[in-house]
Amino acid sequence: MIILPAKKIRGQVQVPGDKSISHRAALIASLAEGATRITNFSPSADCNSTLSCLRALGVAIERAGPNLLIKAAGYDGLRAPRAMLNCGNSGTTMRLLAGILAGQNFASTLTGDKSLLSRPMARIIEPLEMMGASITSNDGRAPLVIHGHKPLQAISYELPVASAQLKSCILLAGLNAAGRTEVIEHEVTRDHTERMLHEFGVQIESGHAASGDTGFVTIDGLPRFPARDISVPGDISSAAYFIVAAALLPGSALEVGEVGANPTRVLFIEQLRTLGLDVEIADSREESNEPVGVVCVHGPKKQTLPATSHSPVMVQGRIVPRLIDELPLLAVVGSQIHGGIEIRDAAELRVKESDRIATVAANLKAMGASVDEFDDGLRVYGQTRLRGAKIDPRGDHRIAMAFTVAGLLAEGETEILDPECVAVSFPGFFDLLESVVER
Ligand code: S3P
Repeated sequence: MIILPAKKIRGQVQVPGDKSISHRAALIASLAEGATRITNFSPSADCNSTLSCLRALGVAIERAGPNLLIKAAGYDGLRAPRAMLNCGNSGTTMRLLAGILAGQNFASTLTGDKSLLSRPMARIIEPLEMMGASITSNDGRAPLVIHGHKPLQAISYELPVASAQLKSCILLAGLNAAGRTEVIEHEVTRDHTERMLHEFGVQIESGHAASGDTGFVTIDGLPRFPARDISVPGDISSAAYFIVAAALLPGSALEVGEVGANPTRVLFIEQLRTLGLDVEIADSREESNEPVGVVCVHGPKKQTLPATSHSPVMVQGRIVPRLIDELPLLAVVGSQIHGGIEIRDAAELRVKESDRIATVAANLKAMGASVDEFDDGLRVYGQTRLRGAKIDPRGDHRIAMAFTVAGLLAEGETEILDPECVAVSFPGFFDLLESVVER
């Protein structure tokens, strides 16, 4: 895919349904009793992986474009799969489904593509085995052979890594556990599983310890809950690429139609505002127990962005999990601002769909930026006029999209190798972007 420099971004876009919320809607609907209608389901390859695994477990799913009808018969309604369950590139599919399969009275095997087979799974194996499942793995990596136990035993578990996938895995296992399961987290991570379970009427509570920032979630096991209709908001993480392009290109004006505005997902917008960029979320309301809003973006008036300081803007500490998927894009933003950006406490980036610290550093350098790489992050020096280059996203959708934005800002031509990988979260990304680019 060749990306040419853009003058500005102008217009209105509607991005597809949120990937994180779609996974949860389909998984939880498959444990409900009755027929759930889901509207605006994500068209991503990752969510297709979740659907194909659920079908292989005997769940009836009818699909008409973005609308799904899932007919399920409760936690006992799942059937032993005849073959391995292929989660493709999707860590969310594998980790959340493992939580459900741990509480079944049959064995199942979860596998995935080359990237997913290299990602850490010991983090879910430990709590699921404490709850009574038995899991064999390839030294902490998939394929995972899960011998379920029905019912599981409730546990109280403190997350050793800030991960919503891990938290959700344990909560979904807790659905099929005798007693009250508790998850304790020291950093706030996305709370879509909690919200979706609550929406389905499951007894789930979250709160904070009196003494500080530590949060907890409890879930009472073995509930029966009826199906209910769910509407999925647009994906704010997909919108992020459009928002950043418009916020950086002078003279831009963009409106992104209703997207999820969950506080655990919108922190990158606050970061952009801290940098002096003009981004707002308007018309907030709630739908299916998730906040949604419209995003309005205006580009800077002048060619150059306001000078902030010569030291880098620091992105570090407890806020990092709430920005995790937007960090590659923020690194690109860092190349465009005075003083640049330094991202720390983000070692999790090394075990995403690619090693995102290495892929961002290599590709930014290819475009002429100066970058220091650390074990847990990177420093990007600004302000740099990027040069078009050949970008290898190493199969990682978010790298391909972040560097497409870089290509719009650069001089000369940028070539994105393996552009099809964007379909992991956002099929149609390039066409939709082209529809609002002015050259
Ligand atoms: C996700 C959680 C995040 C995120 C991923 C989707 C989810 O992963 O990076 O893209 O849907 O729960 P971790 O929670 O493992 O950091």
